[in-house]
Amino acid sequence: MGKQKLIKEIIDEYKNFKIIDFYKIKSNIGVVRLIMPVYLFFRGMFYLFLNEIFNMKKINMVDLAGQYEPIAKEVNRAINDVIKNTSFINGPVVSDFQKNLENYLDIKHVIPCANGTDALQIALMSLDLDPGDEIITVDFTFASTVEVIALLKLTPVLVDVDSETFNINIDSLESAITEKSKVIIPVHLFGQVANMDEIIRLAKINNLQIIEDTAQAIGANYKFLDGRKQKAGTIGLIGTTSFFPSKNLGAYGDGGAVFTNNDSLAYKIRGIVNHGMYERYHHDVVGVNSRLDSIQAAILNIKLKFLDQYNNSRKKAALKYTELLNNNSKIQIPKILGDEDSHVFHQYTLVVKGTNRDELVKYLNHNGIPCGIYYPIPLHKQKAYRSNRYDEKDFEITNRLSKSVISLPMHSELDDDQIGFICKKIIKFLEKN
Ligand SMILES: Cc1ncc(COP(=O)(O)O)c(C=O)c1O
Repeated sequence: MGKQKLIKEIIDEYKNFKIIDFYKIKSNIGVVRLIMPVYLFFRGMFYLFLNEIFNMKKINMVDLAGQYEPIAKEVNRAINDVIKNTSFINGPVVSDFQKNLENYLDIKHVIPCANGTDALQIALMSLDLDPGDEIITVDFTFASTVEVIALLKLTPVLVDVDSETFNINIDSLESAITEKSKVIIPVHLFGQVANMDEIIRLAKINNLQIIEDTAQAIGANYKFLDGRKQKAGTIGLIGTTSFFPSKNLGAYGDGGAVFTNNDSLAYKIRGIVNHGMYERYHHDVVGVNSRLDSIQAAILNIKLKFLDQYNNSRKKAALKYTELLNNNSKIQIPKILGDEDSHVFHQYTLVVKGTNRDELVKYLNHNGIPCGIYYPIPLHKQKAYRSNRYDEKDFEITNRLSKSVISLPMHSELDDDQIGFICKKIIKFLEKN
């Protein structure tokens, strides 16, 4: 932003003027010395004004170019190495990344795959489920989570979310469990880990498996009620994630992974991702072709080293937003469940109350501030996933959130001046509307 630099320049100019004043200017010295500070003050204010209007770094929803810049050389070299070795598919860098991610997550098995949707599908395929088995997940998430359930001819059972954390509502989950229920898929939405203590409790009582959708929360650290901490995605039987470019750990294309501590399940999954083969050209189970490209693995291997730093920058940005937007009755700021490590702020999402969310979006866009609506239509209302088992009043919170949430720019390159500008505009809008 250069405000500090600008102020320093103005001070230097004043100092220089004094030198000129002392040594060169012979007449009217008193008047000039009196007027000059006043002139410099107004000039400074004018510069700061211009600076805010014209000079502020463009605000992006995500800033992948800015994140690439400091690691450009290393990334380019890694990509070139893959090209030189022509090890495009299943190259050694893929197993390097796998091991590094296993270490980072402190889990026995990471199985890389082509994207986060495949990761969810493969996780379900590995569980020997039968058509009609019920899989419980949330109404308020990206379509991938429910799409793979339907694709496998399993029965999606959508439930409402918690109004403060946006994650699965434990009471709704409990009432959705039937004899046909087999799996719960909690989604750690926007970077906040769901209430895993309660989910595990219900899963144990009802003999259900847990697949954690960690597409938005990689690196988050869940704190159990007994004080233990564990990385999101490693708590249930299986965890899945996405390396979509804008994710907290994003590739430069598609990518995903499945995690588990269970040896036999990991073995099975390794076959499923590779056409159901455990021995070349022997297809023991129905599989898919879902591989992480070597080039993507090479990029992710570098970015993984910075994941904690990226997540910390996101948290710092979130804290700044919260500091500036706190105590405004017209908005609800994100709530952190557990301690601060349990949220990695994939999104910073506000709930707008008593004023028009869509007008706020328009106003922000008009002021050069992008924002996102995640998600504008609850899944139970989508044509593909409607079911007569649902009652509208079962989705009171999701229905309300879909009309009132707004996600602000959030990425590891966001600076305090940009956040200050965004919050100033939000507050100005809320004061008038
Ligand atoms: C919660 C959630 N699950 C799954 C996915 C699917 O990931 P991908 O786009 O890599 O298939 C996404 C991606 O946006 C997501 O946000």
